[in-house]
Amino acid sequence: FNAPQPQNEPVLGYAPGSAERAALKAALADARSKQLDIPMYIGGQAVRTGKTGEVRPPHDHQHLLATYHIGHTKEINAAINAALAAKSDWENLPWEQRAAIFLKAADLLAGPYRAKVNAATMLGQSKNAYQAEIDSACELIDFLRFNVHYMTEIYAQQPPISPRGAWNRVEQRPLEGFVFALTPFNFTAIAGNLPTCVAMMGNVVVWKPADTQIYAANVLMEVFMEAGVPPGVINLIYADGPAVGDVVFNHPDFAGIHFTGSTKVFQHIWQTIGANIHKYKTYPRIVGETGGKDFVLVHPSAQAAVVSTALVRGAFEYQGQKCSAASRAYIPASLWPQVKANMQRDLAEIKMGPVEDFGNFINAVISEVSFDKLVKYIDAAKADSSVELVAGGNYDKSKGWFIEPTVLKVNDPYYVTMCEELFGPVLTVYVYEDDQFSQIIDIVDKTSIYALTGSIISQDRYAVAEATQRLRNAAGNFYINDKPTGAVVGQQPFGGARGSGTNDKAGSMINLLRWVSPRTIKETF
Ligand code: NAD
Ligand code: ALA
Repeated sequence: FNAPQPQNEPVLGYAPGSAERAALKAALADARSKQLDIPMYIGGQAVRTGKTGEVRPPHDHQHLLATYHIGHTKEINAAINAALAAKSDWENLPWEQRAAIFLKAADLLAGPYRAKVNAATMLGQSKNAYQAEIDSACELIDFLRFNVHYMTEIYAQQPPISPRGAWNRVEQRPLEGFVFALTPFNFTAIAGNLPTCVAMMGNVVVWKPADTQIYAANVLMEVFMEAGVPPGVINLIYADGPAVGDVVFNHPDFAGIHFTGSTKVFQHIWQTIGANIHKYKTYPRIVGETGGKDFVLVHPSAQAAVVSTALVRGAFEYQGQKCSAASRAYIPASLWPQVKANMQRDLAEIKMGPVEDFGNFINAVISEVSFDKLVKYIDAAKADSSVELVAGGNYDKSKGWFIEPTVLKVNDPYYVTMCEELFGPVLTVYVYEDDQFSQIIDIVDKTSIYALTGSIISQDRYAVAEATQRLRNAAGNFYINDKPTGAVVGQQPFGGARGSGTNDKAGSMINLLRWVSPRTIKETF
């Protein structure tokens, strides 16, 4: 079996008058005109409990887009049982046939489902058309195609050596039990990747997305079913996180978790698994991609225009709600006046509003909880005379959860917004004296409690080399003369260490190897 050599899915431009723009506009209008009643999918069956939650666009919280059915202990157990019932047939299906299903899912997303899944991400998660396209279309299609490629490499690995009279081989078994996939609100691609890359390797999955992602998750499930994922292999449930955890982490057949979300929740989950470790048949695999407080370190040799573009795009695309978003910057005093002027100019031109107007670069933050948290930080900074409000600082929740792209300049490199993950459109800048570059590297490292992404912007090769070496543990994805966002599957395997996760690199063979349990077989003749 030769899986096609994957290529990155081309990003569509959605130019005025283009066919893709017309299709996306039609999908948005269609989605808005309906009020969906979204079921869970357990064992291939749509399950409705009658206890429902609501989906409202974050940029238009008066509009009821859909209701969804919430499961409890009974449905969570049913999902686990459905997964275990499907396990034997699925893991015994030739892996080439499993591969074909996920390649078909990629083709469905690239073709007939592209507008629908992008519209769902735009409305449910308040992403503009470009951000939806690079997420729910391109990145997810790439995850599916590249993972099939890595999967074929795993199954085609050379066997160990066999001396005369013996035959040694290694069998890549799926894990014994079911795997739990927990996905965050901010990337539809992650929602699609976590359950599928686990299932691809012959595992069965219980998948629970964030409540604020259910609208797009529902479309993904439709795609997986149409692509031929058999009933029970991926079970999609909607429920309160801790309630699901109570059932899943107490189950003897729990074999692993593929998590993306906040550091706090992951640490809680890890502790729960640790406390229950004696209950499981096997040590569960724990894979987690978690929070970030991503930095941009600027050297005095950098060009101001490169810096300001990296900051505006890195900090404010998708309202700063990417785990990779630039949220703290260290800028030399000699460059600051120009960088500041450029950012103020660019931010004054950026438009904020609903996703339906394709001219809006900034849309709403995900929820009222997130809005309130961000407003607290912004108000505290505005009230602090040591902090300069460089841009933004206003907010409005009358129609949607809108917060202006906000830039704060602080005098203390340990200021709270230089250290904590805010997860919104707030960038904090610390300006250092040009001759303090070496000391600043130490501070960046020391404050990297998270270690997901980071950038150095410099035209000086020695400074690049120094920062690359001394910050080697401060970021799992390190960028030189670029923004710290926008990793592309197949190009920059993605993940961080320290507080940012187990660094099992989404979209890589490293990740897929976590979902198999090899058996070594020696046969003597
Ligand atoms: P979250 O941690 O609040 O939720 C993640 C998932 O866990 C959701 O499905 C949620 O319902 C569930 N959950 C919450 N509490 C739980 C509990 N006690 N038991 C079981 N499940 C529980 O994260 P979020 O707000 O949806 O996403 C934003 C976070 O994700 C940010 O911290 C961001 O940095 C991180 N993130 C990291 C990466 C990465 O690659 N490192 C990528 C995307 C997002
Ligand atoms: N691919 C996403 C980024 O790097 C996670 O921003």
